Amino acid sequence: MLVPIPDGQGRRRWSVRGAGRILAVFEHPESGRLIVTEARCPHAGAPIQDGWIQHDSVVCPWHRYRFDPADGQCRNSTRYRLPVYPTVVHEGRWYAEVPFNPLGDRGYPRGRHNPPE
Ligand code: FES
Repeated sequence: MLVPIPDGQGRRRWSVRGAGRILAVFEHPESGRLIVTEARCPHAGAPIQDGWIQHDSVVCPWHRYRFDPADGQCRNSTRYRLPVYPTVVHEGRWYAEVPFNPLGDRGYPRGRHNPPE
């Protein structure tokens, strides 16, 4: 399903709830395109939205594993892949194509960038 991605209001990373998930959103520092991933690191569950983009990788804040923003493959270990979701721009607004999670977004780590509930 299409999840609308609200403007980051000047932030380079933030999180969004949608499709029964918490999504991490990164603005690529050079191209300005948005990278949308699952918010839980596949290594040990860190809130990946507290990470950053460096040398065209998404970097996890806990153990600094790096993930390819194109396919989510971990550059440190072939055992891990971060789900990365395709994005589209329609009438000036960003959306991510995300499979619905019927289990809901409980169990996700709370990152610094999660909006207050
Ligand atoms: S929890 Fe992300 S690299 Fe370990």
